[in-house]
Amino acid sequence: MSIIRVEEIAKYSGQEVTVQGWVYSRTDKGKLVFLLVRDGSGFVQCVAFKGDLPEALFDQLTRLPQESSVIISGAVREDKRAPGIPGGYEIGVKEIKIVQTAAEDYPMALKEHGVDFALDNRHLWIRMPSQWAILRIRGTVISAIREWLELNGFINMDTPILTPAAVEGTTTLFETEYFDEGKAYLSQSGQLYNEANIMAFGKVYCFGPTFRAEKSKTRRHLTEFWMVEPEIAFCDLDGLMEIEEQFVTHIVKRVLRDRGPELKSLGRDLPKLEIIEPPFPRISYDEAAKIIQELYEKENDPEKWELLKFEWGMDFGAPHEAALTNRYEKPVFVYGYPTQVKAFYMEPWPDRPEVCKSVDLLAPEGCGEIIGGSERMSSPDLLLQRIHEHGLPEEAYKWYLDLRRYGSVPHSGFGMGVERTVAWICGIEHIREAIAFPRMIKRVYP
Ligand code: 4AD
Ligand code: MG
Repeated sequence: MSIIRVEEIAKYSGQEVTVQGWVYSRTDKGKLVFLLVRDGSGFVQCVAFKGDLPEALFDQLTRLPQESSVIISGAVREDKRAPGIPGGYEIGVKEIKIVQTAAEDYPMALKEHGVDFALDNRHLWIRMPSQWAILRIRGTVISAIREWLELNGFINMDTPILTPAAVEGTTTLFETEYFDEGKAYLSQSGQLYNEANIMAFGKVYCFGPTFRAEKSKTRRHLTEFWMVEPEIAFCDLDGLMEIEEQFVTHIVKRVLRDRGPELKSLGRDLPKLEIIEPPFPRISYDEAAKIIQELYEKENDPEKWELLKFEWGMDFGAPHEAALTNRYEKPVFVYGYPTQVKAFYMEPWPDRPEVCKSVDLLAPEGCGEIIGGSERMSSPDLLLQRIHEHGLPEEAYKWYLDLRRYGSVPHSGFGMGVERTVAWICGIEHIREAIAFPRMIKRVYP
């Protein structure tokens, strides 16, 4: 009898199969025991009938605790009502081997828990259907990211995690002693190295863990998250937006194609994802600022005023991003931010030095920024000036300045946060559920 994966159960309708997994739940109904078994790829109902099994074994089943590990063989039957993910099929138990009878005190037993309790038990929480579905979708998002980039001529370059200097401001650096060299910092972004890489390889991407000592405790910030950063030579801001919308669309389409049962199990509103297609709306920061100010003036609730208050030159907070994205069904590009709220390396807007060629992609349904990107600065003199203005140590950027001297070309790139993207696609509130073991200011366990 072949060992199957539950996600493919429809292919085996009417056949005898074997499933290896864990008992997620058990319901006893006299001569019947219903086991909802998860095998890592799905959840399937297995029905044991007293008359089909040795008496002692059946008796054992009626007491089998949640999470016991089992190997079950039997015939697959189609039954529209059968619960599970994907569901619609059940297995009539012909043989069952109990690999281990789990301890009775399983902390994540099927009742409601507070989020701190769940996070303390994250090593077990990931077995629950919702968390399992989110992390399966994450896996597909990552696969789709690499697939699109590889299909479109990007080469993967791994950039260092231990670095001598900041990329995205000095306030969120994690530092560590580095032998006789003084301090080293955990990478906030591989971008600067990718700017070197494109001058050798044209189109590249790095993809890895990214570290920010974020002091803010929000539902959108982790201290360790995963970011994919494509960088492209001979590409301006418009070219960058075209790449981003193709890229994001591909990811959403792959998840819709391959993770339908998981999305449905999360109760995700699929039409909201099905409409994601290029082009995405594009608005300037100036327009966005105006929209927010108008909303502020029309708002009658004084509590919301405080949150919506906005002046040109400010960065958007979560309430501003929510107010903006609620106007669109697709992700929206906001370009041309004030230079003062962005990183040191962004190309100035022609004839408007107070604005830079940056673009953020804000996801709908209140999710906010999932991508930050820009056209990179070309002038070595201005770049050096910015490095000084930002209080950065010139020696650490000497190699970076070299890139503007030997064959410099217009170039652009962006960084997409995996957890924020997964949270948007899954329709979940907090990005801590979009990574298996989240790291936040108050959490490094488990
Ligand atoms: O906007 P950010 O800071 O941009 C950069 O790091 C650029 N150097 C990227 C580049 O152009 N190569 O970060 C990019 C994205 C954000 O849009 C967000 O999705 C994610 O990274 N991100 C975080 N995700 C979770 N927790 C945090 N603390 C994050 N900070 C940024
Ligand atoms: Mg950003």
